[in-house]
Amino acid sequence: MVLRLGLIGHPISHSLSPWIHNEFLKIANIQGEYKLYHGKPEELSDVLKHLREIEIDGFNVTVPYKQTIMDYIDELDPEAEQLGAVNTVVNENGKWKGYSTDGEGYVRSIQRPFPQLLNRDTSILLLGAGGAARGIYRALMKEQLKQVDIANRSIEKAKLFLNMQLGNSKSAVLSYNEAEKQLMNYDLIIQTTSVGMKPAVDEQIISLENVKKDAVVSDIVYQPITTALHQEALSRGAKIHHGHAMLLYQAQLAFEKWTGIDIDAEHLVEKLENQLRGE
Ligand code: ATR
Repeated sequence: MVLRLGLIGHPISHSLSPWIHNEFLKIANIQGEYKLYHGKPEELSDVLKHLREIEIDGFNVTVPYKQTIMDYIDELDPEAEQLGAVNTVVNENGKWKGYSTDGEGYVRSIQRPFPQLLNRDTSILLLGAGGAARGIYRALMKEQLKQVDIANRSIEKAKLFLNMQLGNSKSAVLSYNEAEKQLMNYDLIIQTTSVGMKPAVDEQIISLENVKKDAVVSDIVYQPITTALHQEALSRGAKIHHGHAMLLYQAQLAFEKWTGIDIDAEHLVEKLENQLRGE
């Protein structure tokens, strides 16, 4: 039997997901396919009807359908419900269940190369308060950390995060100015906005003048692979974590939901980097 997987979104022709999931299928020694199911908004219901007809085993959902898809599925994981977004659908005996693997995928992507980083003494600063930041914040709240603060241009938007607090971690909301001044307090700084993405590669959300030497600076932007923020982090003696690692691990978690297999993906981070460079 061939495992049928795929991706819906618009546009998706440059997606790296087929490459990633084909690597996973090879590693897991599973016969399967991961296809792109393009569809403009007016074509979405037909695309989904087709996926029901072929009894697809699972699929990913990307922009602009992460919210819209919720009207078409049978069941919603509570975490995806709280986030208001679905990026992975699993066909469970004919019922489509929606999950969000972005936040937990991010946490895995940081834990594999930095296994000691997330603990009760860890203070984290999130830069940005959009959809990506929400997923990451929600997943970090499960890790019992000391502090997870949010800095954003719109303070009101960042304050909404405080309603998602679970567990014992404390959280405060800061302006970017305040964040820059207090940067030495953080062990991990996570940049979640699109600032610094190609073609505006010189843009940087904050200055890292006050970063701690052994801190980790993580940027979810993966084009370019090494952003201006990463470069400044390196020049100040901090460590870096790349955006394509998150891309890989949100896929790794989706694959686990479809197959039950927890793929050892760390060696694929570098292979994916080469893929991004077009090698
Ligand atoms: P996503 O779902 O990809 O996270 P989003 O929900 O549109 O995208 O969120 C975008 C984030 O990037 C927000 O934190 C936004 O800041 P505001 O909430 O203040 O708008 C941030 N952002 C985008 N462009 C920015 C810019 N030029 N300067 C500062 N922040 C920016």
